Amino acid sequence: MSYVEEYAPRVGSLPPRAAFTSTARTLSLNGTWSFRLSPRADAPEPGAPELDDSGWDTLPVPSSWPMHGHGKPIYTNVNYPFPVDPPHVPTENPTGDHRLRFDLPADWPAGDTVLRFDGVDSLAQVWLNGTELGYSTGSRLPVEYAVGHLLRPTGNVLAVRVHQWSAASYLEDQDMWWLPGIFRDVTLIHRPAGGLTDFFVHADFEPSETDPTVGTGLLRVDTDVPARLSVPELGITDHPADQQVDIGCVTGWSAEQPRLYHGTLATDTETVDIRIGFRTVSIVDGVLLVNGRRILLRGVNRHEFHPDLGRVVPEETLRAELLLMKRHHINAIRTSHYPPDSRMLALADELGFWVVDECDLETHGFGRNDWRRNPSDDPQWTDAYLDRMRRMVERDKNHPCVILWSLGNESGIGVNHGMMADWTRRRDSSRPIHYEGDYACRYVDVYSRMYASHDEVDAIGRRAEERHPDADDALDARRRGMPFILCEYGHAMGNGPGGLLEYRELFERYPRCQGGFIWEWLDHGIRSHTADGREFFRYGGDFGEELHDGNFVIDGLVFPDRTPSPGLTEFAKVIEPVRVEIRGAAPGRRTVRLRSTRDLAPLTDLALRWRVAVDGEQVGTGEAKVGDLAAGATADVELTDLPAPDGTGECWLTVTVVSTVDTEWAPAGHVLGDGQGLLAAARRPALPAPVPAGAGSPVELGPARFDADGVLRALGDLTLTGPRLDVWRAPIDNDKPYKAAWRKAGLHRMHHRTDEVRATAAGLLVRTHVGAAARDAGLAVEYRWSAHDDLLRLVVTVTPRGEWTVPLPRLGLRLALPSAYDSVTWFGGGPGEAYPDSRQAARIDRFHASVDELQTPYVFPQENGNRTAVRWATLLDASGHGLRVEGAPTIELTARRWTSEQLARATHTTDLVASDRVYVNLDHAQHGLGSGSCGPAVLPAYELAAEPTTVEVRLRAV
Ligand code: GAL
Repeated sequence: MSYVEEYAPRVGSLPPRAAFTSTARTLSLNGTWSFRLSPRADAPEPGAPELDDSGWDTLPVPSSWPMHGHGKPIYTNVNYPFPVDPPHVPTENPTGDHRLRFDLPADWPAGDTVLRFDGVDSLAQVWLNGTELGYSTGSRLPVEYAVGHLLRPTGNVLAVRVHQWSAASYLEDQDMWWLPGIFRDVTLIHRPAGGLTDFFVHADFEPSETDPTVGTGLLRVDTDVPARLSVPELGITDHPADQQVDIGCVTGWSAEQPRLYHGTLATDTETVDIRIGFRTVSIVDGVLLVNGRRILLRGVNRHEFHPDLGRVVPEETLRAELLLMKRHHINAIRTSHYPPDSRMLALADELGFWVVDECDLETHGFGRNDWRRNPSDDPQWTDAYLDRMRRMVERDKNHPCVILWSLGNESGIGVNHGMMADWTRRRDSSRPIHYEGDYACRYVDVYSRMYASHDEVDAIGRRAEERHPDADDALDARRRGMPFILCEYGHAMGNGPGGLLEYRELFERYPRCQGGFIWEWLDHGIRSHTADGREFFRYGGDFGEELHDGNFVIDGLVFPDRTPSPGLTEFAKVIEPVRVEIRGAAPGRRTVRLRSTRDLAPLTDLALRWRVAVDGEQVGTGEAKVGDLAAGATADVELTDLPAPDGTGECWLTVTVVSTVDTEWAPAGHVLGDGQGLLAAARRPALPAPVPAGAGSPVELGPARFDADGVLRALGDLTLTGPRLDVWRAPIDNDKPYKAAWRKAGLHRMHHRTDEVRATAAGLLVRTHVGAAARDAGLAVEYRWSAHDDLLRLVVTVTPRGEWTVPLPRLGLRLALPSAYDSVTWFGGGPGEAYPDSRQAARIDRFHASVDELQTPYVFPQENGNRTAVRWATLLDASGHGLRVEGAPTIELTARRWTSEQLARATHTTDLVASDRVYVNLDHAQHGLGSGSCGPAVLPAYELAAEPTTVEVRLRAV
């Protein structure tokens, strides 16, 4: 059996240890290397220094080679893209040989040096100057070789053979692109004689009784050789590192206040920088505490991916990404499903995130074979499992941000998980253990689930969840006594997720329910261009893969280029640090109640900004001071002398709480919470008496002309078609539970039959039947038109006929205008899109956008861009003429340059081609979003049932 099919995780490398920077010299070997890709593992070996590689290609290191034109990416979620027969791998095993010639700097010190690889996918065999050092697996884990004795001042030749497939591929079946390569740094690190190899910082924290942010600390650093600890800020100088220091007063570390103390660990030959965060993680009475307080995880699952580079994430991208999370109030990251680049943890320490550090382990594809031969329960794999856990824990143990160790993801359950947990507890008793796949909670300390419905979370909150079939009384009681987290929820695929507010309510109702992590942070789309240069993103199947899972890899809160999607805006609103509630009704006065949703640290440097607007036109604005707001505290701010509404329109008070100082992640003015209160509702003027319809065809009614079927064709000078009933939306990914039934019901191909067009005293009555071929369930639709001076009023009544067993995607009216009417102003919810179960971020105001700007460019095209609770909107051309629509009282508005049918047919954004029309939907409502692409469907309250409904709109040419 070849080494690519060995169970042994690595050969020839050094024991795992902490990642750190020190005064020891380092030499980055990143750069341009020679590269040769072979289709099989048995190509001639690349190790000999004299080998002529002048005909090879070049490749950047770090890189994922399929992103550079060598071979292709493959996307599968659960399936292995090869026959499941561990530890065997395909004969066709893409093998990338990488070679680098390098000289040492002239002053490179003699002695020991290690060669470190921070990540190579999947198996790397290494030669230095012709000597084979060994091989390693564990793609997202570091490996080091002792190379001092092999290095020469000049002319070193480093050769790395990387096989895409190895036995270890069975342990790396995460839902993501398969992307081989040396994708993290390669570094030479000098090891001075008498230097530090490894150390473990223990910095416990005991909060004071009155303030959880300050308290006493216990500091001790275990080192492999005697070392001196200095932390100038704490008055510690050259203290024997392994002798505990009691610190009388120290500020704790938390995600909310990431106080780090900088220090050094020194031997006579090496000084290491350390950053110490004092914090204690504990579980008390079934609740997860940090520094003695219950924390709520407002988290995301983060994969490491870049749309141009694959698994290589440049440092500036990483930093920008974490800043973006902070700005959206995200306080936790699960490193799904492998340890991230170490730099991410250093940044998380610095910026403040609770991190669940997850082992590089997933064997999900065995589930497709009833978990037969699952490595998790096979002793032949024990070393590999333990090695992975050790390499993660040893590397990351000094990061205060890491509060839970995760054994991996979706690997079934087996004895090897038990061994990982046991080893981890012995090595680090300070952090609880997480693994979602341990349903009975035999090995873990925290109960974790993915995609549990709201009802289920409610039961779990009451500690009344169903018993697991494998659990005896003791195990059952143990699990019921644990804290609960949703390691994945809110599936952010395409448009969505919906229902986040209701999850938050559960997390706030039940102490045990401590939040969770949205699946997931980022769309893993691969940036591409059409022949004519238009950008789009590819997903599974776009590279001719034999097996793939399509756009299931496009399920993030941010687009592949990391621009926020509406899902992120909604999540940020749901988890905002300050809740704003406006109370009272006295004229000119309101009480603004602010509540901090923080768990530990106070919010300081706050200001409150208010604005009063009538129909979205500002009539007053001001600012008020806000004192500090302790974690969880409320404070009332009195606003007096607010402008009095003059009765002309709808008057709203909008309050925004901002920070008045720059923070590391956001400039002053950053919004921490907002809220609105209605000061005066609009009064609708009575309509003038209707004019009767003219006789004849086309039918004329005031400013309007209709065709023989009673369809509106012109309003004054404006030509248009419709409005007519519309029940279809281009299905969203989260419509998965409904899609098939909708198509079966024919909702995408409804026929409109005209039953009657009749002039009445009040105007025009049009009666129709709307139904799908082959289906007897339909909708009786009556349009009652009336003209009042230049205003055209339409009252539509919809009455279901026959048996309706599916909810409707939408219920409303669609009309088409010439494409020039593409400038949209509306008074209603905005600025972004909103749907019934994802509308927290919408505020009522006046907004403007072009039709193009109203679109959300979901990588896989689908319904998007709805503006909610619209009181009125205008669609104007460049000369300022066009159509004004009013809801009575409100409508849901979408406008786009293609129809829903065209949108539904598109598979990539570049398939959407502007037509010569703007299609406008004026809806009574849409069905919610839910999380049905992977998880619960729409909550009952947001289902759009087919039931008798009246929709009223008013149209005017302007
Ligand atoms: C989970 C899995 C994730 C991802 C998600 C669906 O089962 O842990 O890796 O596949 O579902 O997008």
